[in-house]
Amino acid sequence: MRYWALVAVPTVLTAAFFYAASDNRHEVSAQDFVNLQQGNAIQPGFRRAHAKGFCVSGDFISSGTLAEYSSAQVFQAGQYPFIGRFSVAGNNPTAPDLKAPVRSLALTLLPETAEQWRTAMNTPPVLAVGTPEKFYQQLLALQNNTIAEFFAAHPETAAFRNWRASYQPTLSYATEQYHSINAFYLINAAGKQQAVRWAAVPTVGAANQLPDPEAVDALQQELFARLSDGPVIFDLVFSLATSADDENDATIIWPDTNPQLIAGQLQIKQATEQSNGQCNAINFDPLVLPRGILPSADPILRARGAAYAESHRRRAREVLLNTATGAHHE
Ligand code: HEM
Repeated sequence: MRYWALVAVPTVLTAAFFYAASDNRHEVSAQDFVNLQQGNAIQPGFRRAHAKGFCVSGDFISSGTLAEYSSAQVFQAGQYPFIGRFSVAGNNPTAPDLKAPVRSLALTLLPETAEQWRTAMNTPPVLAVGTPEKFYQQLLALQNNTIAEFFAAHPETAAFRNWRASYQPTLSYATEQYHSINAFYLINAAGKQQAVRWAAVPTVGAANQLPDPEAVDALQQELFARLSDGPVIFDLVFSLATSADDENDATIIWPDTNPQLIAGQLQIKQATEQSNGQCNAINFDPLVLPRGILPSADPILRARGAAYAESHRRRAREVLLNTATGAHHE
């Protein structure tokens, strides 16, 4: 009886997904994503994606260059605090830093205010596919070791594959470039909108050494050591779409010839283990935006908002239950 319950439940879930995926009127749900991302070995209390990481904080020195494009406070000239998180992709909170294919930087700017702006950025400048359904199939193909067949069947993956072929991971989180990938709109005081993407671009060259290349936390150690010599600095660079660009398709790289504006400098000043850092409880949902920034209609953005919420809900509940159990035993 028990055995049949174990077999029947996953089979029903799998059947439900394939029904959903083969019928365009149905979308892949946030639960589908998070179930797939967390896999079979759930790590209670940890993010279901980008589980391995640590917290940082510092100040954004806004140049005011974007003030004519957006009424957001963060783009008016000034200095604004942020809480951030460096991470590597995957569901394993103890994964070796150097093995991960994707590195990430997430930020919550102006965290104490209603002008808060959250962004989660990755090293690739583009996505392989442009819809949540195909993104789900891509994750499935990665897990099933059929990614070569998946890429071959999806020509829109070309830009991503080209990037992947030329990408050389550096030996530091401080010397990677992190991209919003999805596009957003800047809205100015007159209500005019401009589609943009942004990237955190390092201000120092890639030549460096790892304190301990064999360490599981090699990149984390390197960043902590680097911060003892002073802030780690990135330019926050905005690329403005032209009429030739489709802001709802994240599989295509915008040309370098598009206007590029430096909104200011991200100065990272402190780092903390995630277990006792402020970033741990934050859901870096890319749809948490201040007035003056709006999401594009890119369907991946909607799927991200829902999936991050579901992952956050699960891990927050686990932390609460764990705390409650701990209190009970004390
Ligand atoms: C449909 C596509 C995607 C899905 C379903 C997805 C799903 C997730 C989930 C479930 C989390 C964990 C959230 C939490 O518990 O706080 C996460 C974290 C993250 N995702 Fe995605 N993601 C997607 C696309 C992207 C893209 C396009 C980017 C980059 C532009 C990205 C960057 C990140 C980063 C940086 C984090 C870690 C944030 C942190 O440090 O807390 N994701 N993602």
